[in-house]
Amino acid sequence: MNNSKHEAISSAPAKVILFGEHFVVYHNPAIVAAINKRIHVHAEVNNMPSISIKSGQKSLNIPTASNDNFIQVYDKTTTFLYPIFKCVKHVLSEKEKQTIGINLHINSEIPYGEGLGSSAASCVATIAALYSLFSNRDKHQIYNTAKIMEQNIHTNSSGVDCYVSTFGGIVDFEPNKGFSKIETAKKFSVLIGTTGVKHSTGEVVSQVKLFREKNLSHFKELSSKASMICTKARKAMDEGNELELGSLFTENQKLLSMLGVSHPLIEKLIERCINNGALGAKLTGAGRGGAIIALLPTDKNKEIADRISRESGKWMLVEFDHDGVAIG
Ligand code: PMV
Repeated sequence: MNNSKHEAISSAPAKVILFGEHFVVYHNPAIVAAINKRIHVHAEVNNMPSISIKSGQKSLNIPTASNDNFIQVYDKTTTFLYPIFKCVKHVLSEKEKQTIGINLHINSEIPYGEGLGSSAASCVATIAALYSLFSNRDKHQIYNTAKIMEQNIHTNSSGVDCYVSTFGGIVDFEPNKGFSKIETAKKFSVLIGTTGVKHSTGEVVSQVKLFREKNLSHFKELSSKASMICTKARKAMDEGNELELGSLFTENQKLLSMLGVSHPLIEKLIERCINNGALGAKLTGAGRGGAIIALLPTDKNKEIADRISRESGKWMLVEFDHDGVAIG
């Protein structure tokens, strides 16, 4: 391999949708933030013409030259690893290096299938590590390729997940204007709770589409309220007003419940957060399972997070990530 390395490492952050999920599919804004939970990738060139991927107990080993039909028959269960394999194959083909093999080791702090952007982060980190093998560390190219690969997984993907995972920060997405970063006047403290109920984003998005078709004027009313919440949230972040931001979380959750994308376990986790001192809470991502986010007062965040997580469930106190993908 000319002008290339034998091994490379990278990592990319998970994300939470703070405001605007579902409505963003219908040309409304959304606010999305990268968080300090990462997926780590170690890539090395091997001497066999095969792509070998290991993540915890899961593994996949496929000859580099295999065609897609073979791969899908070969292992349908590896829903997490297969998109990663596709990313490796894509970069090798782009760099005209289809004859070399790659070993990939993945180590993830991000729960899978809970709406925290694990698939986008794995695409971003894998592509970054592979590009780095070929001395390419351009974040824009990483984002563009990751977005294409992510769209193969979620056909209607807006690219928001890949954007925040690549560039980090809190990002305002407006359908006609694109992405812009939001600077906050203070650090906010967010607690994530996972329901353990895996959701299919595609299925929930289809259910919302049906809801919209049957209740168009009600849907429009909810959309315009959701847009207003995004506007107020930007201001609250600019001003560092966590009381206002918390109440906007709760207001946004009411709209999502009306859309029919909440879940009894989501409601239970939200109630527990509010009863224990959270400033507001909502589901994040597609809903019908997945995860919730609660805004905690920064000065008492650890104490409140301890109280909430004492009973049961999986909780993570997180901070926003401002770095995005890291390449070694
Ligand atoms: O659950 P997630 O992280 O896949 O988020 C889906 C967000 C939606 O707004 C429901 C769909 C989308 O493409 O924006």
